[in-house]
Amino acid sequence: MILGIETSCDETAAALITEDGEIRANVVSSQADLHARYGGVVPEVASRRHLELISPVIREALSEAGATLDDVDRVAVTRGPGLIGALLVGVAAAKAIAWSRRLPLVPVDHLDGHVASLYLKPGPVEPPFLCLLASGGHTMLILVRAHGEQELLGTTLDDAAGEAFDKGARLLGLGYPGGRELDRLAREGDPGAYDFPVARVPGLDFSFSGLKTALLYAVRALAPDELAARKADLAASYQHAIVRALVGRVREAAEQSGQERIAVVGGVAANSELRASLSGASLAPLSLCTDNAAMIASAARYTGALVYPAYLGLDAFASR
Ligand SMILES: Nc1ncnc2c1ncn2[C@@H]1O[C@H](COP(=O)(O)OP(=O)(O)OP(=O)(O)O)[C@@H](O)[C@H]1O
Ligand SMILES: [Mg+2]
Repeated sequence: MILGIETSCDETAAALITEDGEIRANVVSSQADLHARYGGVVPEVASRRHLELISPVIREALSEAGATLDDVDRVAVTRGPGLIGALLVGVAAAKAIAWSRRLPLVPVDHLDGHVASLYLKPGPVEPPFLCLLASGGHTMLILVRAHGEQELLGTTLDDAAGEAFDKGARLLGLGYPGGRELDRLAREGDPGAYDFPVARVPGLDFSFSGLKTALLYAVRALAPDELAARKADLAASYQHAIVRALVGRVREAAEQSGQERIAVVGGVAANSELRASLSGASLAPLSLCTDNAAMIASAARYTGALVYPAYLGLDAFASR
């Protein structure tokens, strides 16, 4: 089995998968409650918590899989991009386990991990496909021709889609993390109530910062009691604008690249309106949209491993 470890942001995660992509255990310990009072992830707080949680989370994954370290053939770990102090905890844990058993170690790019969430059983999706990766830190259109062979067609010029959800949720007083809350509230509102503009940028790139400002002005224009009454409409219209922008770009990219098979991964892939709007697409299973270690172990199946002692000097990286 492959032991996957993920600590790039505020989820401490460990998973065990088989060589052919069956998930035996997928443990995710979210620190969201810890960071909620600050309205976002505090990097130093996150690293400290990862330190406390990493061993118990790995132990729990082993126990859930009915396995011991004897059953682990290689260790996969997120090397970046992410919060550097948080990443280092996972990398150090992975090195220690691999070193103690002289196992190979596979450094995994977190974004390759999100794409690899599609390759897991029970319903694996094989390339080629056009992938929309929409998460808290990234929004990308990737043409995946084969495993490990991909081309970046578009990316965000400012905020990521998930960031737009989180910032919108904050403006509406919905707490943190806001994407899921905004999604829930939007179901009670009218998506046509407000006409929020979607920035048109050249090529296949995205831009979400203007949308956030438009919401800010709409919120400011309302008295507190009015705001309470229109909150669901604001959420629905705001979400609709983000989804429209994402879906529009996906369709353009499909046309330009000639690749009609579409897949969606990352935290925003959990959004109900996006899922409904791209119903013909391959959507990452809900449990694998936000950060997890099963997707990291999955990516390791298609990434070269480092053998002992080559990985002892391995470092993490914050951005690509
Ligand atoms: N139902 C939902 N609707 C919209 N957004 C959602 C939903 N569920 C989660 N999100 C958003 O997904 C994001 C988290 O996704 P993910 O864990 O993939 O991101 P990340 O790991 O923080 O960023 P990255 O992968 O780019 O490093 C958050 O911004 C969150 O608000
Ligand atoms: Mg992520």
